[in-house]
Amino acid sequence: MASIYLQTFGCQMNAADSNGIAHQAWSMGCTFTTNPEQADIIILNTCAIREKAESRAYGRIGQFKALKEKNPAAKLLVCGCLAQKDRALMRERAPFIDALLGPREYGKLKETLTAWGVATDAPPPDALFRAPAAEEDPGQGGFDEYAHLRALVNITRGCEKFCTYCIVPYTRGPLESIPPEEIEAQIKMEVRRGAREITLLGQNVNSYYHPASKLDFSGLLLRVGAIQGLTRLTFLTSHPKDFGPDVVDALSRLPNVCPRLHLPMQCGSNPVLRAMARLYTIEEYLEKIEHFRARLPGWALTTDIIVGYPTETEADFLRTLDVVQRGTFESAYIFSFSPRAGTPAATMMPQVDPKEKIRRLQAVNAAQNEATRRFHESFVGETVSVLVQGPSKKDATRLAGKTGHNTTVVWPRDGRTDGMPLVDVTVERAFNWGLAGQAA
Ligand code: 5AD
Ligand code: SF4
Repeated sequence: MASIYLQTFGCQMNAADSNGIAHQAWSMGCTFTTNPEQADIIILNTCAIREKAESRAYGRIGQFKALKEKNPAAKLLVCGCLAQKDRALMRERAPFIDALLGPREYGKLKETLTAWGVATDAPPPDALFRAPAAEEDPGQGGFDEYAHLRALVNITRGCEKFCTYCIVPYTRGPLESIPPEEIEAQIKMEVRRGAREITLLGQNVNSYYHPASKLDFSGLLLRVGAIQGLTRLTFLTSHPKDFGPDVVDALSRLPNVCPRLHLPMQCGSNPVLRAMARLYTIEEYLEKIEHFRARLPGWALTTDIIVGYPTETEADFLRTLDVVQRGTFESAYIFSFSPRAGTPAATMMPQVDPKEKIRRLQAVNAAQNEATRRFHESFVGETVSVLVQGPSKKDATRLAGKTGHNTTVVWPRDGRTDGMPLVDVTVERAFNWGLAGQAA
């Protein structure tokens, strides 16, 4: 029986792919280990979104080279977006890699494992399937007894938006919508296994369209929202251009949908938005969220922002900063532009000086931290429902979890709430990173 070590970098899409990889390997009778030295097969699921993600993956591949020298029988499989983007380069520079599979090639996984002598044993019972925690280093977290409470379900593959900075359309290929029956079947299976929260995943969920059933994203939301036993439903990521009133309407009719929307703005200035090929103006974006807030008060709005895009002037940057300073977002992921070879933005001139990019990043981060803290402070004294993630990474005497707004909450572990999937917590203190309180 082959033992597998699986490590995942990158976004939720990659985490979902890793679950699929783990499930396929399990169905062939493989087991999992959190120690790469004990593995027969090492699988690295990589990310290529920014240079930092790439260099971390390359660093890890380098470590596995040494490990393979010690144990030449071990196989190394590199998957994910970097495997797709740098396939030729990796073959040349890292010939010790035994196989490369891009994000649209996991159909070949079985074949690859079989070629390495993994016989198709009968899998252990379904109840015993425990994929490694879909976190960066399963060696640290081990197998996560709470992981089954949350499930990621792909509704589309690929992306056709071709924002000028983004590598994803090249690594994940053209857009494809998964048939609703398949989505429904997967959600039902996850709920049967104990999932309380389902995240519908796509690079741009609003582009979902299944021609045979004439189902679009709002139709899909209403259809899967009716599945019995589903406590929380949420979705990632929306594109402002395609996010329409029909979706707001569907959300307002779903009792179990989490009150949060991730709607990447990327930039607050029109010339830069145009250069990014985002297909909306900042006025259209702000109008959309105003309409959204009026229809769905109390929701948390989160965003992605890139600073230092080529051609971005001080005036452009100040427009982004202004939107953030007004408290437009409850939370935001803020990135410094990272040129990706092969994308139009990589060769666009002028590029912004790296030091200047860091200054802009820090300024927007500081402004967002203020807004996030104010949002968190509004919960002090309230009791919130928290979906448990497990012992806090920083302090194992506490449990940690997430509210429906996706805010982190920690509380002391007193045995009373151990093993419970959902806990009501009375909030006592607010921080930038989240909330602390006591089980109610
Ligand atoms: N540089 C910096 N950030 C990027 N993102 C995508 N491509 C790049 C890049 N080349 C950010 C965008 C996107 C998020 C997932 O990553 O903000 O929404
Ligand atoms: Fe996810 Fe994009 Fe990274 Fe691929 S490149 S893993 S799609 S964030």
